[in-house]
Amino acid sequence: MKVVLLGYMGVGKSTLGRVLADSLKFIFFDLDTYIENKEGLSIPELFKTKGEIYFRKQESYYLKEILSRDVDIVLSLGGGTPVYGNNMKEIVGASNTISVYLKLQLNELVSKLYHQKLKRPLIAHYQDESEFEEFVRKHLFERQQFYFLADHVLDLTGKNVNESLSELLGLLN
Ligand code: S3P
Repeated sequence: MKVVLLGYMGVGKSTLGRVLADSLKFIFFDLDTYIENKEGLSIPELFKTKGEIYFRKQESYYLKEILSRDVDIVLSLGGGTPVYGNNMKEIVGASNTISVYLKLQLNELVSKLYHQKLKRPLIAHYQDESEFEEFVRKHLFERQQFYFLADHVLDLTGKNVNESLSELLGLLN
């Protein structure tokens, strides 16, 4: 079985993916980390030296590569993965694959993400928190149409990792 976690930057896809994989005894893949290892560059370095178009091409390529493995996996996507190419078509409706959109209320998302923006090239330059919030609000609104294609939606607002994990396990049973 494959469990695919998706959602906006900073919602906790990687953290939750890791604990979910541990609890299910599945292999964990974090798509960003996988790309960084394969390409030998961090995400900010990749954006800087090769550009976003190159990154998106590689992101789709490695997504297919991971999904083609015949093992039980939990895969955490990057925030933009569902939005580019035909990536959601690779996931939704694929056999033995369950996708979950992890969401957070805007204020919790913004306050969490504002302090983690430096490793994220699309938002690293924001200085002013209210401009940042405005960007995230619009960007999330544009992307949600893709995120909502997932099989399930899980709202993590106000929940710690253990609570999030048990809700997620409940969805998968
Ligand atoms: C991106 C999200 C990032 C990473 C890249 C682009 C996006 O992943 O793939 O910086 O377009 O939302 P996280 O969602 O893990 O931050």
